[in-house]
Amino acid sequence: MRRVSTALIPALVLSCVALMTVTAGAQNPGGSPEGKKMKNPVASSPESIKAGQAAFQKNCRFCHGADAKGNGPMAPEGTHPPNLTDDKWDRGSTDGEIFLVIRDGAGPKFEMKGYKSKMSENDMWNVVNYIRSVQAK
Ligand code: HEC
Repeated sequence: MRRVSTALIPALVLSCVALMTVTAGAQNPGGSPEGKKMKNPVASSPESIKAGQAAFQKNCRFCHGADAKGNGPMAPEGTHPPNLTDDKWDRGSTDGEIFLVIRDGAGPKFEMKGYKSKMSENDMWNVVNYIRSVQAK
């Protein structure tokens, strides 16, 4: 009996992960065709960047660092939240692709979960504009 139930655990975990991937529309390494097509509906302005910075400090700083350079002090052990100010984008570099990572989370492991239920889409675009504003030129 015991042996049967432990053998079931990996199968259960796998089906959970598969379900999460389907329902959350994971943004996986390699970028996303959907994101490439999206247009940023919020024009970058000082107001938008300021709102984005505030949302970033509230939601993202723990993991990505106050300056967005990655490896924030409270990132879960063993994870390496990337630098968001360099030109390296595992999941695509367009505004839409960055937006989708924020909305849906970073698949396939989801060390970063999506912000769908915690932030308005408008604020997510503000965060995209903020990240753009701190890009190394
Ligand atoms: C719990 C920690 C955590 C929080 C909070 C978090 N992230 Fe992340 N983020 C990560 C990790 C870890 C990765 C890399 C995942 C991987 O590579 O598997 C990541 C990846 C990303 C990426 C993809 C980078 C690339 O190279 O393509 C973006 C963009 C991003 N995060 C933005 C944000 C923003 C904006 C917020 C706040 C709204 C945020 N993250 C909040 C941990 C976090």
